[in-house]
Amino acid sequence: MSGVPTGRDSFGSRFGVIAATAGSAIGLGNIWRFPYVVGENGGGAFLIIYLAFVVAIGLPVMMSEFIIGRSSQRNAFGAFKKLAPGKPWFVVGLMGVTAAFMIMAFYTAVAGWTLEYIYLSFVNGFEGKSAAELSSMFDQFRSGSMRPLIWFFVFMGLTALIIVSGVKNGIEKYTKILMPVLVLILIVLCVRSVTLQGAGGGLSFLFKPDFSKITAKTILEALGQAFFSLSIGMGTLITYSSYIQKKENLGSTALSVAFADTMIAILAGVAIFPAVFAFGIEPGSGEGLVYITLPNIFQQMAGGYFFSVLFFLLLGVAALTSTISVLEVIVAYFVEELNMNRKKATWAATISVSVLGFMCALSWAGMKDVKLFGKNVFELLDFTSANILLPLGGLLIVLFVGWYLGNKRTKAELSNDGELKVSYFKPFMLVVKFIAPIAIALVFLQQIGLLGF
Ligand code: PFF
Repeated sequence: MSGVPTGRDSFGSRFGVIAATAGSAIGLGNIWRFPYVVGENGGGAFLIIYLAFVVAIGLPVMMSEFIIGRSSQRNAFGAFKKLAPGKPWFVVGLMGVTAAFMIMAFYTAVAGWTLEYIYLSFVNGFEGKSAAELSSMFDQFRSGSMRPLIWFFVFMGLTALIIVSGVKNGIEKYTKILMPVLVLILIVLCVRSVTLQGAGGGLSFLFKPDFSKITAKTILEALGQAFFSLSIGMGTLITYSSYIQKKENLGSTALSVAFADTMIAILAGVAIFPAVFAFGIEPGSGEGLVYITLPNIFQQMAGGYFFSVLFFLLLGVAALTSTISVLEVIVAYFVEELNMNRKKATWAATISVSVLGFMCALSWAGMKDVKLFGKNVFELLDFTSANILLPLGGLLIVLFVGWYLGNKRTKAELSNDGELKVSYFKPFMLVVKFIAPIAIALVFLQQIGLLGF
């Protein structure tokens, strides 16, 4: 298939590809969402189901996105149009761009909370506060209109600044610096957490499975979390891989990224649960876990000031390398499908996302009474995108590669036109044709009550 079209930006190095792609995957999903979803779903048993989904479904979907992106060298929508002209597959791309708007809106709102907490950490804002005070501090912050909104816009602005500089001089340049910083900070935090007295309870909560805690809901949550955390199912990785050069090995890149993402989620669990247990806090505290529970821990532990600054910086960095990947989905679509230049596309994407983001940032303030199915705008976008749109997108993506692209084109892309050995090719095709689609479909059928357990 064709080489890089002239004038199209691309990643310059293998490390750049991994830093950018792992940067997309590793984010609030690992450090904010994963620990609280594990906490709410009973710990170790959830972790096992999650890992099984990452390997059996996540990795094949990721590789499928890479195949679609690099072979077409187009944005998420244009890729399907180019590979399947005149066929309705472009709808998968449209779903992806829609999911990008939704995720960008609520995700940037949470990223904005992180900026508030970086600020609070610097000014020692948690000192001397009881658990109840910290909890009401978080509630007050979220229900006051101005600050969540301002921080939302600051974070959108930071993201747009990187995106407007392009792929090599923006995305790649910053993720190559930010990702190693993130890993270093996380390791320091893990060491601190596991050396606290009473840390063992947290480790056994995370690693000792209690299968009596598994319900039908747990399984959907695990699937949704795997999709969200790996950034798959909406074309983010189609977009990023469209900038990967022909000589890179797609299979090993996907393996490294999925491995790195899973390790960071587990390390985040190791940084958080021992501390949660050491200070006798409820692990299932929901989306406030890192914003309420951790400040409580930081202000009780030796060196807490230092560690809270580090932790919230880590969260901010992780979020930024992910928001840029989501914004890029929309910007690449605007540039290639609506013929905008990059600057104009970045502006247009930023402004249109901000409308939804505005509602998310105010979901506990002025917009708190706007609810559907008992969920506010923020919760609705989070639930619908992670648990419905992404798995559905993933299902269609593997079907596209397995049944539409077929053996010959898929093998050509994975092997770089015969240059690499792809000994895993047969099992890969078996998974994308049958195993992954059936597994995703079963989880869905179960959810809508058609399987009866
Ligand atoms: N994977 C990111 C995280 O775990 O924080 C979130 C995300 C980024 C989801 C990009 C989806 C996406 F397309």
